[in-house]
Amino acid sequence: MKLLSSALMLSTALAVPSQVHLSLGGAVDSSGVSTGMYVMWKTDGQPSSTVRYGTSEDDLSEQAQGSSKSYLDGHGFHHTALMENLSCDVEKIFYQVGDEADGWSEVFSFKRAPCASSGTVFSISVFGDMGYLDSDLRPPKIPHGDDTYHGLNKVWSATYSRNMLESLKNSGDIDWVFHVGDIGYVDDSFASAPLKFTYEEVYDGYMDWLQNLTSTMPYMVAPGNHESECHSPACIAQELKYGRHLRNFTAFNERWTMPSEESGGSRDTNMWYSFNYGSVHFVSINTETDWDGAEEQETGDSHIPWLKAGGFGEDGEFLTWLEADLKAAYEEKKAGGRKWIIAAGHRPYNTIQEMKIEEMFIKYEVDVYFAGHSHSYSRTTSSDKPVYIVAGGAGCDEMGPSKESLLLGPLGQDLIESDKYSTGVLDVSDEKLSWRLIDSIDGSIIDSVDIL
Ligand SMILES: *[C@@H]1O[C@H](CO)[C@@H](O)[C@H](O)[C@H]1NC(C)=O
Ligand SMILES: *[C@@H]1O[C@H](CO)[C@@H](O)[C@H](O)[C@H]1NC(C)=O
Ligand SMILES: *[C@@H]1O[C@H](CO)[C@@H](O)[C@H](O)[C@H]1NC(C)=O
Ligand SMILES: [Fe+2]
Repeated sequence: MKLLSSALMLSTALAVPSQVHLSLGGAVDSSGVSTGMYVMWKTDGQPSSTVRYGTSEDDLSEQAQGSSKSYLDGHGFHHTALMENLSCDVEKIFYQVGDEADGWSEVFSFKRAPCASSGTVFSISVFGDMGYLDSDLRPPKIPHGDDTYHGLNKVWSATYSRNMLESLKNSGDIDWVFHVGDIGYVDDSFASAPLKFTYEEVYDGYMDWLQNLTSTMPYMVAPGNHESECHSPACIAQELKYGRHLRNFTAFNERWTMPSEESGGSRDTNMWYSFNYGSVHFVSINTETDWDGAEEQETGDSHIPWLKAGGFGEDGEFLTWLEADLKAAYEEKKAGGRKWIIAAGHRPYNTIQEMKIEEMFIKYEVDVYFAGHSHSYSRTTSSDKPVYIVAGGAGCDEMGPSKESLLLGPLGQDLIESDKYSTGVLDVSDEKLSWRLIDSIDGSIIDSVDIL
C-alpha cells in the first residue's frame, strides 16, 4: 500500500503537495479556542484542494474541500483547507492533503489546541528574522566590502536555529511556533544570484525546509518589512512579469492563512488577528502598515514609488480593532478567564511608541510584547509590564552585532542583550510564563526569566 502510493506520487510529480503547513483557526468553542486547523500547501499544477483527516493513520474518514490560488504565473498554486470540529478528546489528528487523481502527501499528525482556558501547560518557540540556510549553502555573489554590502553580511547562518527547532520538536519541547516577521528573507535572495529571479524559488525552499515543523504543529506568522515585496534587479527590470505581482505583502498573504476572519482582524489577509490558546490570549499586530507613520503604508521596504503597499483596512480600523480586542481580553482576564495577554509584532518597542499603543498595552495589562527586526536579542529587566522581548537572533543575512538594539530609548531600562544565534522558548502555565533564550549553536541558556 505504501509502495503503491509513493509510486503514484512519483508518476504525478506535478501535483504532489509540498510545503505543508498548519495554523490555528476555524470556529471557536465555548472556551474561546479554535476547534479547527488550517492546512496550506503548494502544488505546481492545480488539482483540487482536499484534506482528509481522522483520529488514526488508518482512519482518515473526514474530508474537507479547500481552495487554491496562483499569484504569479508559472509559479504554482497555493492551497488552503480547514479541518473543522476537531475533538478535544483525541490526542492526535492525522491528515493528508492532495487530490484523489493527482496524489496525496504523506500522512502527518498534530495535536489539537487544549480545550480548557486554565490548567493548561504548553510551550512555544517565538522568534523573528529567520533566513533560509546559510552563507555556505547560499554564498553571496554581490560585491562585498570588508564584511557587508548594503547591510548584507558575507557570513551568516540560519541553520543553527533551524536545527535547534528540529531538536525542540523531536524532544516534545514545543507545541507550536510564532514567527514574528521577516520570514526567510526572500527579498534578499538576489544576493546569491544577482540577476536571476529567485524570490519564489527561495520562498519555496524555505517552506520545504520548515515542513517537518510546520506540518506537525501550527506555525503562526506576523508581517515583517521583508514580507512587503520583491525589489531585486529582476523584479525591477521585469515589473510587468514580476514586480507588480509581488508588492503589497502578496506572497505573505497568499501563502499563509491566519485566523483573521475568526477574530475580526484584517480582511482576507494576515496583517492583524488574535486567537486564544490555553490560558493565553495572543494578539498579532501589524507594525508595517495601517497606522499614522507606518513605514510601509504607502510603499514597501525599498520605497520604490511604484511598488505601492498598505491600506489593508479603512483609516483607523486596525488600531480600533486592536483596542477592542485587548479590552475584551482584559475583561476576560479580570473576570477570572484567561491568565495572560501576549502581543507580538515585527518591530520593537520604539515602534510601539510611534504607534501610540504603549498606553493601551499598559491599560489592558499586556504581559509580554515579542518582536524581531533588530536581528539580535534584548529584554527589559524591570518588573514593569509589558516585558519587552526582541527575539531577533534566529539568523539571517542582515544579522550583526546588537549595536542597533532598537529597544533603547526613552524607556531607560536596563536590558539583557545578546548577539548570538538563538532560539527562544516560552513555557506557559497558569502560574507563570517562563522564557528562555537558547544558544542555537551549543544549546546553553543565554537568558531566562519567569514572568508572574
Ligand atoms: C462543525 O460544527 C458546526 C457547529 O456545530 C456545524 O455547523 C458544522 O457543520 C460542523 N462542521 C463539520 C465539518 O462537521
Ligand atoms: C526532517 O525530518 C527528516 C526525517 O526525520 C530528517 O531526515 C530531516 O533532516 C529533517 N529536516 C530538517 C530540516 O531538519
Ligand atoms: C494592498 O492589499 C489590500 C488587500 O488586498 C488592499 O485592500 C489594498 O488596497 C492594497 N494596497 C495597494 C496600495 O494596492
Ligand atoms: Fe525586519
